[in-house]
Amino acid sequence: MQDNSAQKTVLLIGASRGLGFAMVEEYLKRGWRVIATGREGSTEKLRQLSAGTQGALEVEAVDITIPDQVAALHGRLMDRRLDVLFVNAGVKNDDLETIADISTEEFVRVMVTNSLSPMRLIEAFQDLVQPAGTIGVMSSGQGSLTNNTNGNYEVYRASKAALNMLMRSFAARHRDDARTLLLMAPGWVRTDMGGPDARLSIAESIPNLLSTMEAYEGRSGLHYLDYLGRVVPW
Ligand SMILES: NC(=O)c1ccc[n+]([C@@H]2O[C@H](COP(=O)([O-])OP(=O)(O)OC[C@H]3O[C@@H](n4cnc5c(N)ncnc54)[C@H](OP(=O)(O)O)[C@@H]3O)[C@@H](O)[C@H]2O)c1
Repeated sequence: MQDNSAQKTVLLIGASRGLGFAMVEEYLKRGWRVIATGREGSTEKLRQLSAGTQGALEVEAVDITIPDQVAALHGRLMDRRLDVLFVNAGVKNDDLETIADISTEEFVRVMVTNSLSPMRLIEAFQDLVQPAGTIGVMSSGQGSLTNNTNGNYEVYRASKAALNMLMRSFAARHRDDARTLLLMAPGWVRTDMGGPDARLSIAESIPNLLSTMEAYEGRSGLHYLDYLGRVVPW
């Protein structure tokens, strides 16, 4: 019988496709036990992948914007201990839509999905993360105030900047906590969100992003890093 006692566990939220799905594949390759979530109706690809993993990949469903679903998932996983909790889920609005023309409804959708909901997930699940574990969230280089010199994608940028700020407040509230807190910027990557003209392939981003996360294991406090481990200015 295989001894799995040293096997680490990651919970990946928003992993049905794109960067999240690639993170699942990469963690499995590295020998981790993975609990990955899609939204109800978008877990099929994860379930197909799970079939060949002898139980290393468990698939769950949650929409991070629905608090009842977040609470129910927590209930199902409350006996588990996580080495890494990572919230990848995110959305964007139309690239050309500025703050001048976005509807209130669309603004709320982007902000609630990208800023409020990842933090709610982290607040709800942080009790499952080991004392020396990692809590991470997919930010973006677009969330940097310093680097915003061209203004493009302004609502999406604002949602990731708000996420960064909320993580800083979380870090301040937990300043005596030994766990590592990460805001990750994957680069501009060819996915449904990044589009076909993006600079990087998934293969150029995600293995490096995971290696960066591993390199920061045990380094407590909050770090805003890109996929190559470079510090992103706030
Ligand atoms: N691609 C890039 O260039 C880039 C650059 C910087 C940062 N990012 C960030 O990286 C993350 C992943 O991006 P991606 O390019 O892989 O995007 P994607 O291909 O559009 O995938 C987005 C993922 O988020 C999930 N999601 C969206 N809303 C959700 C919700 N309410 N609850 C649960 N899951 C939800 C989607 O699930 P469904 O399949 O159910 O819709 C999907 O798994 C996002 O946070 C994005 O902002 C991407």
